[in-house]
Amino acid sequence: MFTILTGAQFGDEGKGKVVDLLAEKYHIIARFQGGDNAGHTVVVGGKTYKLHLIPSGVLLGKRLLIGPGVVLNPRVLMNEIETLRQEGIEVNLGIDPKTTIIMPYHIELDSLREAGRKEKIGTTKRGIGYAYIDKFSREEVQMGDLADPALLDAKLDEIGPAKEKAISDMGGDPSIVRNSPAIAEYLEIGKRLKQHLADVSKEINMALDIDKSVLAEGAQGAFLDVIHGTQKFVTSSFTTAGSACANLGVGPVRVDNVVGVVKAYMTRVGEGPMPTEQLGDIGERLRENGHEFGTTTGRPRRCGWFDALIGRKSVYLNGYTELALTKLDVLTGIDPIKICVGYRLDDDVLDYPPEGTEEFARCVPVYEDAPGWTEEISGARKYTDLPLKARSYVERLEGLLDVSISAVSIGPGREETIYLD
Ligand code: IMP
Ligand code: MG
Repeated sequence: MFTILTGAQFGDEGKGKVVDLLAEKYHIIARFQGGDNAGHTVVVGGKTYKLHLIPSGVLLGKRLLIGPGVVLNPRVLMNEIETLRQEGIEVNLGIDPKTTIIMPYHIELDSLREAGRKEKIGTTKRGIGYAYIDKFSREEVQMGDLADPALLDAKLDEIGPAKEKAISDMGGDPSIVRNSPAIAEYLEIGKRLKQHLADVSKEINMALDIDKSVLAEGAQGAFLDVIHGTQKFVTSSFTTAGSACANLGVGPVRVDNVVGVVKAYMTRVGEGPMPTEQLGDIGERLRENGHEFGTTTGRPRRCGWFDALIGRKSVYLNGYTELALTKLDVLTGIDPIKICVGYRLDDDVLDYPPEGTEEFARCVPVYEDAPGWTEEISGARKYTDLPLKARSYVERLEGLLDVSISAVSIGPGREETIYLD
């Protein structure tokens, strides 16, 4: 069985928790895009784990793969491996040798460029975009190069001068490219990670051949996709479900399920349009109740009402076969709850987001009201334990997106999850 799971909004939908729940049924969990700009929070036995690179199934001892479409900061990865080890959690990890390495100069370039932008993107400053630029310009350092000092040296001699010039031009210190202590550290980490090198495409296909199950774990969300999102306010990778096949090297006909993770309201971190953003009390309340602060950067997330148009487009972009709805408990006590069911753009009313970012930014939401509930719902264990109004809200979202909701999350813990038939 091959399942792909992606975020349907702007990231931070709660993918970490959902993957952790699903992981039990899978032999392999694979990351296919993005890097340590991602942040997954998983709560098990009251303990909170924050992960950026290691797939969320780690807490269940699963085989974990990092595919060649990921951009990998080796220091961050090593840190996570060490931290988990100190907790007594062993990491059974395979990393594709073609995985792009985020070098110190990518982080520097990301920060310098962002500082120089008149209109900011609000990147996580993890070097994501600059690492991907190098992949596409064929000037990347790959995981396999780190295990071989001579190879890395030769590569840096080839690509270094242009980087040094770019950094100098932006007012930074060019010595970071070839002389930084980080390079020695990278090589050291490369030696230690050598034992983890694995041909990810081959391993996944061979596992599927013998009926093992594989879960591809997306990072970020559909509206941060570099092709289909709200450019320029996007991340630099392909975040939709089809990307899992391309990035992991698995044919599309092998896909069995595509799970969309949808938050019961909207959040966005960083700049860019967000039609249902609430700047007043409601936004503040969602942020407080939902602990909506970035896992990676600590920035407060922008919060607002559920946007069914974004949801519909995500269903198209990903081809979801089912949805997991998260953080329903955060809406407890809010009445009415608004749902965006249309956009007003100039003289038109739209039922689907417009393509251009500039038009999208001018859309004014058309809302319908859903009655709120006041009962605490985190103790509910089956669907009928939920108040009628909470169930109506779930069913309204299901109707608007026209995909069945198979699980509803009502708190951070594993047990705070309701499965629907
Ligand atoms: P970058 O991925 O660091 O280049 O940042 C580009 C945009 O994507 C910024 O608005 C970030 O806040 C956003 N972003 C990147 N990764 C995540 C994520 O994992 N969750 C939510 N937003 C993200
Ligand atoms: Mg996150």
